[in-house]
Amino acid sequence: MARTVRFLLNGEVVEARGVDPTRTLLEHLRGDLRRTGTKEGCAEGDCGSCTVLVGELDEQGGAAWRAVNSCIQFVPMLDGKAVITVEGLAKDAPHPVQAALVEHHGSQCGFCTPGIVMSLYGRAVAAKGTDAPVDEVLAGNLCRCTGYGAIIAAARAIAPEAAPDVADKLAGLRRDEALSLDYADPIAGVTRRWFAPLSVDELAATYAAHPDAVVVAGATDIGLWVTKLRKPLETLIDIGRVDALKTVTREDGWLRIGAGVRYVDALEMLGELYPDLGAMMRRLGSTQVRNSGTIGGNIANGSPIGDMPPALIALGAQLVLRQGEVRRTIPLEDFFVAYGKQDRAPGEFVEAVRAPTDLDGAMFKVFKLSKRFDQDISAVCGAFNIRIENEVVTHARIAYGGMAGTPKRAIACEAALVGRLWNRTTILAAVEALASDFTPLSDARASAAYRALTAGNMLRKVFIESARPDLETRVPEAAPQAPEAANA
Ligand SMILES: Cc1cc2nc3c(=O)[nH]c(=O)nc-3n(C[C@H](O)[C@H](O)[C@H](O)COP(=O)(O)OP(=O)(O)OC[C@H]3O[C@@H](n4cnc5c(N)ncnc54)[C@H](O)[C@@H]3O)c2cc1C
Ligand code: FES
Ligand code: FES
Repeated sequence: MARTVRFLLNGEVVEARGVDPTRTLLEHLRGDLRRTGTKEGCAEGDCGSCTVLVGELDEQGGAAWRAVNSCIQFVPMLDGKAVITVEGLAKDAPHPVQAALVEHHGSQCGFCTPGIVMSLYGRAVAAKGTDAPVDEVLAGNLCRCTGYGAIIAAARAIAPEAAPDVADKLAGLRRDEALSLDYADPIAGVTRRWFAPLSVDELAATYAAHPDAVVVAGATDIGLWVTKLRKPLETLIDIGRVDALKTVTREDGWLRIGAGVRYVDALEMLGELYPDLGAMMRRLGSTQVRNSGTIGGNIANGSPIGDMPPALIALGAQLVLRQGEVRRTIPLEDFFVAYGKQDRAPGEFVEAVRAPTDLDGAMFKVFKLSKRFDQDISAVCGAFNIRIENEVVTHARIAYGGMAGTPKRAIACEAALVGRLWNRTTILAAVEALASDFTPLSDARASAAYRALTAGNMLRKVFIESARPDLETRVPEAAPQAPEAANA
């Protein structure tokens, strides 16, 4: 068992001994290592001030880099990885990303700018060059002062560049043993333990031995339990080093997404199969959140406003759970028992989610409604899997988030559709039936009346889009933006 955390910081190996496993990378950088270029704005993954790049060995043996929010990454999650902070960019002169921001007057306040630099640097060194739309890359960097015009102009002037070659150094840090850390928390008066197994079997055994442990995947939810709720977590099991959970495979008409698969690694494949799901996922969190957060974590978290469950339930997805040696597979909708309660026994973890790859001619639509277009949690999210044959609805699976204490199927609404003509009368009856499916709540995101109205409007929109495909009903997606000449 390895007992210390080792990672590369701006190319140099650093070793964290005796660190609290729930210390965030941001706290470690600023407080312990005195790298204060990385800023704290919100400490909850929203503002992007704390953005750093994290590199890992990819399957080809090179290093793959992604921008993450260091405020919600725990230090042990970095073990064996590489981190680049804003201090790692400028050598004798400003780095081209920094120079572009200066040139275009995009260097605004000292809080946001380091994070913006790192997000744009992440885009510059991405394997696909600077294809990623600037708006998408910057959606997780919130500027509250003068706006984005100058920053976007700078971003467009930044050319792609080769990522730092740290593959050999990363290979040198690789270890073939699980990580196990103990830390006596003097304030909470507990010994905090962190386990990072390497295989699914080892994970199952570790969790069986510590059934009260908290499973950590991308920590984009759990990070906030620590930074905002100050939960004194005792035992944590990190699934981030279990490579077998990070694969997306096709098997007998199903797409199997391992519980450790991050949004960024599933988005392309899911978007090809279900374009609306891809479009919704590009609005889920920010680039930084999608670079860390997992689909498995979104499901296991059980939030009524998690965005993936409605879409996956409407698709007819199944959840694979494992406890010790025992596996079971259940329909995803059965996992969500009640608000805050999921069908998961102590020591049982999500191993994978399976979604069908062929919807047999059905249309599949997903609508996410939030106050802000990007990087915002949904007020209502609706997903519709509807097949129409000879103008009659022959199949309907509909699910909503934000309408009940759990993500939930709209059974009465489905029943009002199936076997009926696909026309306005049927739609109106199905919209009415939603009132027997859901009694939504009012909260900060939306009132009950607004939720009920918009849930019905989503179904109306499905009908309008199918009847009038010529109408423009969507906000256009951000287009890829190639670098422009510096003064264009
Ligand atoms: C700024 C910001 C924006 C966000 N925007 C959105 C959004 O638009 N839509 C949305 O749906 N969510 C959003 N989220 C929430 C979050 O990103 C997602 O829920 C994410 O998918 C959680 O995945 P994770 O890997 O980070 O989970 P973690 O935080 O690691 O874990 C979440 C929960 O799942 C459990 N868990 C994780 N993996 C497993 C497993 N394999 N087995 C059993 N239990 C497990 C954990 O114990 C914990 O209870 C946002 C979060 C932030 C910080
Ligand atoms: S400090 Fe705001 S995202 Fe990390
Ligand atoms: S750059 Fe910091 S608020 Fe605008």
